Amino acid sequence: MATPLTGRPRPDLASEAGTAAVRADFPILEREVRGHPLVYLDSGATSLRPEQVVEAESRFYRETNAAVHRGAHALAEEATDAYEQGRAAVARFVGGAFDELLITRNATEGLNLLAYSMLAATLDERMGDGVARRGADPRLVLRPGDEILVTEAEHHANLVPWQRLARWTGAKLTWLGVTDEGRIDLGTLDRITERTRVVAFTHASNVTGAISPVREIVEAANAVGALTVLDACQSVPHFPVDLPALGVDAAAFSAHKMLGPTGVGAMWANADLLEGMPPFMTGGSMVEVVTMEESTFLPPPARFEAGSQATAQVAAWAAAVEYLEWLGMDEVAAHEHDLTAHMLAGLAGVEGIRVLGPTTATERVGAVCFVVDGVHPHDASQVLDDAGVAVRVGHHCAQPVHRRLGAQSSVRASLGPYNTRADVDAFIAALAGVRPFFGVTHG
Ligand SMILES: Cc1ncc(COP(=O)(O)O)c(C=O)c1O
Repeated sequence: MATPLTGRPRPDLASEAGTAAVRADFPILEREVRGHPLVYLDSGATSLRPEQVVEAESRFYRETNAAVHRGAHALAEEATDAYEQGRAAVARFVGGAFDELLITRNATEGLNLLAYSMLAATLDERMGDGVARRGADPRLVLRPGDEILVTEAEHHANLVPWQRLARWTGAKLTWLGVTDEGRIDLGTLDRITERTRVVAFTHASNVTGAISPVREIVEAANAVGALTVLDACQSVPHFPVDLPALGVDAAAFSAHKMLGPTGVGAMWANADLLEGMPPFMTGGSMVEVVTMEESTFLPPPARFEAGSQATAQVAAWAAAVEYLEWLGMDEVAAHEHDLTAHMLAGLAGVEGIRVLGPTTATERVGAVCFVVDGVHPHDASQVLDDAGVAVRVGHHCAQPVHRRLGAQSSVRASLGPYNTRADVDAFIAALAGVRPFFGVTHG
């Protein structure tokens, strides 16, 4: 049984008692892996979930279990309330208004939603079915010669959809560079030009951990009237984020990286933009009037939520938000900052490690990628796994930034609010054994 959060004092994450109380809410941390206590350092891929979230999801199935926005029976009404309250909680968590938050399958779908909506607006325009008649926002229409700008640090989710959109519309894809330290290179900001129509960039890199200079990028984009799109997957779970205050037009993130369930995410976009966005997917739940020839669409957010919704997941996402708010996002950020600094110091003490990204905890999150000289990342992760340490290995869906930093793949240790200094110490101790295990002593 999960301990209710109401009336429960906020834990002090800087104290052992505080983290112990939090960890008790995550039953998976009681597991042993390969004869060792689990050390979970893969929250960048997906976070753990507290019992409160697991219970909220199963409670929905046990007690409510109905499709939303259809049916007039009591359960349908309760399910609709739970779904819309979930939307409200998530929207509030990122500073947005209730009807500015579109529920998607994940962040990837959110970013695709925007790219495909722009494709739809562009096609309508080219078919002479004009933006004016369809009510689409002219900022969404791309013409040959227009530019879509990303960065070299992007996850493929915020790169591939824009590559395709550029190809289909005749626009050109351009990008901001990355410095040797793994930060967005502000020296390349002049690549945002009068031709730039969209600037899509990550808030925090899932490879280098670097937090992007949002203000500078948004200012440059605003100066040329470009739309700004933020990939907030690695920021929203780790520090306080107020999307409207950042000045971006749209942003995407996933529940499963912020203590929430799998299979659900969101795209937030300001109401002004949403109003003029054509739908991405079409079907039930998003239409007003359908004849055999034509359909009209509901206002946002329903216009963008075709088909049956992820009801239990949205209800459980609200519980995840409640849990993070109980922890306090300032406190989560401070705790993870301390652990990141501790991890970077530990890594600096292990021979043959090269961190891909900033080596101090300043302006970065706790996703730390590194290569081990003379050992393939997969082999390194296997030794860590033998010690019960779960890390991620590969290119982390970000091949260009790996290439830029001279690596094909890497090991990534990434933090969540339930991690402790003891986790980091266990990881560093196991890592120190990797090169000796493979008999690598040179370099
Ligand atoms: C920076 C970043 N962007 C996008 C994504 C894609 O998230 P999802 O797979 O939940 O759509 C991830 C997930 O790893 C990520 O770290």
